[in-house]
Amino acid sequence: MPYETITTQTDGAVTTITLNRPQALNALSSVVLDELIEAFAAYQNDDSQLCAILTGSGDKAFAAGADIKEMSEKEAADFYLQDFFAKWTSHIVEAVRKPWIAAVNGFALGGGCELAMMADFIIASDRAKFGQPEIKLGVAPGMGGSQRLTRAVGKAKAMEMCLTGRMMDAEEAERSGLVARVVPHDTLMDEARTTAATIAGMPPMAAMVNKEMVNAAYETFLGQGVIHERRLFQILTASEDKAEGMKAFIEKRDGQWKGR
Ligand code: HXC
Repeated sequence: MPYETITTQTDGAVTTITLNRPQALNALSSVVLDELIEAFAAYQNDDSQLCAILTGSGDKAFAAGADIKEMSEKEAADFYLQDFFAKWTSHIVEAVRKPWIAAVNGFALGGGCELAMMADFIIASDRAKFGQPEIKLGVAPGMGGSQRLTRAVGKAKAMEMCLTGRMMDAEEAERSGLVARVVPHDTLMDEARTTAATIAGMPPMAAMVNKEMVNAAYETFLGQGVIHERRLFQILTASEDKAEGMKAFIEKRDGQWKGR
């Protein structure tokens, strides 16, 4: 279906969702959010799609944040009554159980950085820049940035970035653990597609379980996380793909996955 502020494209088992407001540096308006929710739901519900990539259109930005012009019109009561930003968590972080990658092609600021950090991992162009500059607007991160950035890069850098609005370049972001990999700008989408296709070639249920396990490390203490991992592992051993995967290894051939 046609969208106003994003585009979507499928290539084999890989869905690419592109934020498409380059004139506003892909700022995240409420229309963008609604359309992203729809696009991610379509990805999650389509059994033929096994990995997604989220990126930004244009050469300059992944997303330069929540839409400041739209936010400037709202009052505190609007933010509270609409539970502003809650839908990101329920519809994107929690509802999308299949893997997705953020391919960060430029500025990822404020809500843009927070959106990238909601992905399972980030691949960054060497021109990417990450920051939480909300303090300069008299506010603070509102989509999980103070929490996810701190978990990703530690208190010192997260605190410095939130308090000063300083941006981190791609090289520092990789060194600090915020991004999985930095690639030359012109190769970003090829690298992201190759990585997504690799994931899409894995047994699909095992991919979901691996994602759930790693995410559990954010939510639980170590002993509980290890038990959670063990139970999920045990469930996975009952899958047809486990039997096929091990048989295929022994028979020296590629596995043929059923996704269950
Ligand atoms: C709306 C935005 C925008 C944003 C850029 N634009 N960021 N519009 N919301 N977040 C628009 C500009 O108004 C301008 O439109 C066009 O995009 C190009 O931007 P420029 O500023 O002219 O580009 P440049 O000089 O290259 O500077 C790039 C930039 C700067 C450094 C990224 O745009 C910038 O600082 N943007 C804001 C970043 C930010 O503060 N993000 C956090 C937002 S708050 P016109 O029409 O003038 O050409 C947030 C969460 C809040 O995300 C949660 C708590 C409530």
